[in-house]
Amino acid sequence: MSERINICFIGCGRFVRNFIPLFKAHPFVESVSVCDILKDRADAYGAEFGVSRVFYDFNDVLKDSKINAVAIFTQRQLHAPLTIAALKADKNVYSAVPTGLTVEEIQEIEQLVREKRLIFSSGETGAYRACSVFCRNKILSGEMKNFVYGEAQYNHDMRHFYDSYKHSGGEDWKKVAGFPPMLYPTHSTSMILSCLPGVYAKKVAAFGYRERQDTDIFGENGQNYWNNPYSNTSALLQLSNGGIARISENRRIGWHAPQSYISNFHTETASYEFSVMHHYYSTWDPEDPKKIILTEVSDLLNPPELQARINDPAMVQECGRGFGFVMTSPIQPQKRIPKELDGLRNGHNGTHKFMCDDFCRSVQTGKLSPTNIWQAARFNIPGIIAHQSAMRDGETMTVPDLGNPPADWEVLPF
Ligand SMILES: NC(=O)c1ccc[n+]([C@@H]2O[C@H](COP(=O)([O-])OP(=O)(O)OC[C@H]3O[C@@H](n4cnc5c(N)ncnc54)[C@H](O)[C@@H]3O)[C@@H](O)[C@H]2O)c1
Repeated sequence: MSERINICFIGCGRFVRNFIPLFKAHPFVESVSVCDILKDRADAYGAEFGVSRVFYDFNDVLKDSKINAVAIFTQRQLHAPLTIAALKADKNVYSAVPTGLTVEEIQEIEQLVREKRLIFSSGETGAYRACSVFCRNKILSGEMKNFVYGEAQYNHDMRHFYDSYKHSGGEDWKKVAGFPPMLYPTHSTSMILSCLPGVYAKKVAAFGYRERQDTDIFGENGQNYWNNPYSNTSALLQLSNGGIARISENRRIGWHAPQSYISNFHTETASYEFSVMHHYYSTWDPEDPKKIILTEVSDLLNPPELQARINDPAMVQECGRGFGFVMTSPIQPQKRIPKELDGLRNGHNGTHKFMCDDFCRSVQTGKLSPTNIWQAARFNIPGIIAHQSAMRDGETMTVPDLGNPPADWEVLPF
């Protein structure tokens, strides 16, 4: 299969502006359109980005036979129903995270993808962050063997979401902002699981933190549509390879950045640890098996602009405020990104271009994206069950797994 991509972006909100230029520039893309139910937003993006067509109704996009792909950038709770409708209309789908909020809707997406052999690619940025690439490379090379334990987290305080939620939420924005953090678990789960091919969560036990100070967004008295009391939730996952992962999704925390990262990743043969700006790797000394060789590997994982100033005391402050968001790291496989995307704005540690390229390569070749629905389910479902576990005061629960991709469908590597 070699298919030119005619894509329509669904939702002209704040985040999508980072992606329209990337897809427009990608050599496999023939045309880009936009759609929003809010006419002024659709018109504004249509004019700003010089797109092929502007739509105001998702159903009109589905009826358009020239459009063979949609990219869903609506609010987080709206993705799965749109994905399901698009797949039913024979469109390939790129979806911002999360893929869905219930196991049932993710199962339905999986069934449609499997039966129709359409492309679904999750826009999960965590899989390409420098720490994930580093640990994955070490696992794939065999240097890291037998995963034991890892910790990953997505710390994003609610105060930095206020404007985002107000943008589309109107007067009721707090009711959406109180979304359970574990229904958006992929920035932490993906980091551990994308390093461990074929591995999935078998069991989960989670605990939530109930708001004490500001109870206007998170709470069980109708503050939000989910009656969700938790602003922060941490989960312990038992993995199918025998390892253990701790993931945390924190939305009320005295911290800004680094925001989404692996803090440690231990295997029997080697380990990775990180704090703020410093990345370390340790292996057993072949000359003396009782001694560890501990090496700082920050030059591989930090963007060069940060690394150059790692000893500048001001850099700690800048890093804590989010320095490096749009920047790339030497460890990331930048060479595979088409040159047409050079110079365009990137984001989330330079991962946006990988998200765009994975989807485009996938549709063009007919091969599965690395963040295909089977992998996306493994990133999403542990969080859905973690929230249920937290609501049951930490009860250990089984995590459903949708299995591996069909054996006759090749998966593009990360
Ligand atoms: N790191 C990441 O991966 C990351 C970062 C930021 C945002 N996101 C995700 O991106 C998505 C978009 O976020 P945002 O901040 O841009 O949201 P937003 O609220 O600014 O925009 C959403 C837009 O979708 C439109 N919309 C809703 N239903 C529609 C429909 N049926 N048809 C057409 N348009 C419709 C709304 O009118 C709105 O303009 C969210 O799911 C968010 O979670 C992911």
